[in-house]
Amino acid sequence: MMLETGTNINKIVDFARDKKLIMDKDALAVLSVRPDWRSILEEIANDGFFLITKEEIEKRLLRTKISLLEESFELAETSKKTEEREGVRNFRILKEYDVTDKSYTQGSVEDFVKLFRDKFHTLKTILEQRHTLRAKPIKRLKYTKEQEEIELIGMVYRKWETKAGHTALELEDLEDRCIVVIPKNDRKLEVEKNRIMLDDVLGIRGVKVSKDMVIAKEILWPDLPQRNMKLINKEVYVASISDMHVGSKLFLERAFQKFLAWINGNAGSPEEKKFVKKIKYLFVTGDNVDGIGIYPKQHSELNIKSIKEQYEVFSNYILEIPERIEVFIIPGQHDAVRWADPQPAIPKKLVPKLYEAENVHLLGSPSWVEIEGLKVLLYHGSCLHDVFSNISGLSYEKPQYAIIELLRRRDLMPAYGMKHPYVPERRDYMVIREVPDLVFVGDLHHVGYATYRGTTIINNSTWQDRTDYQIKQGHVPTPGIAIVLSLKDRKIYEKHFLVS
Ligand SMILES: [Fe+2]
Repeated sequence: MMLETGTNINKIVDFARDKKLIMDKDALAVLSVRPDWRSILEEIANDGFFLITKEEIEKRLLRTKISLLEESFELAETSKKTEEREGVRNFRILKEYDVTDKSYTQGSVEDFVKLFRDKFHTLKTILEQRHTLRAKPIKRLKYTKEQEEIELIGMVYRKWETKAGHTALELEDLEDRCIVVIPKNDRKLEVEKNRIMLDDVLGIRGVKVSKDMVIAKEILWPDLPQRNMKLINKEVYVASISDMHVGSKLFLERAFQKFLAWINGNAGSPEEKKFVKKIKYLFVTGDNVDGIGIYPKQHSELNIKSIKEQYEVFSNYILEIPERIEVFIIPGQHDAVRWADPQPAIPKKLVPKLYEAENVHLLGSPSWVEIEGLKVLLYHGSCLHDVFSNISGLSYEKPQYAIIELLRRRDLMPAYGMKHPYVPERRDYMVIREVPDLVFVGDLHHVGYATYRGTTIINNSTWQDRTDYQIKQGHVPTPGIAIVLSLKDRKIYEKHFLVS
């Protein structure tokens, strides 16, 4: 089949050279199909090895697999608690969309093929239903008469600018490829062509001009259907926080304690206390702790230098949230689970007290929850960095527009093989299979809101002060804010806790 995943061989060789590692051919072959090749090499280099063999890599992969199996065992024990709670409360965890407990990948070529096939099939079906497309397989293009209109669905394999200044795409499906040209003077497609990233699955309405070439007239995205907001007839509020980075010297402890006092109804005016009582759900979208060894020289920036202790402090904070509030926690890049998406839930051995708490639910990133009949998508937001670097006109200060780009593609894995790694699970957990009513994201340390086709998008704040890295990047975060959303009218409230 087509839909090649591409290899990272050149990147791996360059990286190994920089780290002064010597690698044999078999080792290179194993790494070339691993999305986490960089972290494997880094781990080996940090352990003082310089000769990389296939055996050394396999030994490390086996260790990861065993620890994932251990995590699965621990998680299975706790699902009963959640099921009982679901029975008495108005929520449901959509486990089928969460990788936790189900990571079976070996990272083989076949796993990559399955992942890309699943992505293509799911998005193709969405495209066909959404736009009533009667797309022909690309291989049928040669039987279409020239100048005849044609509809196609394919994944973007290549994108470039022609000498004449037009944008060209090489589009592929499971059997064949063709070229789609987006004319430079087509004003209607101007915005669309800027948006297109590699691996996007698109619908094309166009005109055949030669045996394997089509001029695009319309570009169609899987997208969300246009619909009205689903409002509920009750005064129910949802709160959301993210990126606490507990353990970091920059963790805004006093602000977070003020937040805890507030959510317990121990602060503010009588009206404020009445307001807080309406909160029934709290979403926590990752980077719960700062972690250990996440970036070079992190050690000197940590207040708590043990991961166990970081999670102990974090757990104690979460246990202060009133029990009447259902708390859903997903991991982020700083949490002690695999870095690559989809990420499984933080395991029980790190947060045993949270697994025991009736009202706390540890989920993967991404994951889905249904509350009060509304579908909620939770995702840390790691893939957004690749969206920012590929689509011009987006900014970290307005993360909601980058999230819209994910909803437009119905995909949280917008491009494979860029900065952010993905594990090739046989089922694509990154595709947005349902239409979410609410989307909560973190990661960017900057609040942002939007309503997109009836979906409320919220990007959360952080509880970490501005880092040196953010200063270098010129990024100004908006820390110390809890967001509250009213499900009755989707009104958004910002609650500020930063102590000056
Ligand atoms: Fe963060």
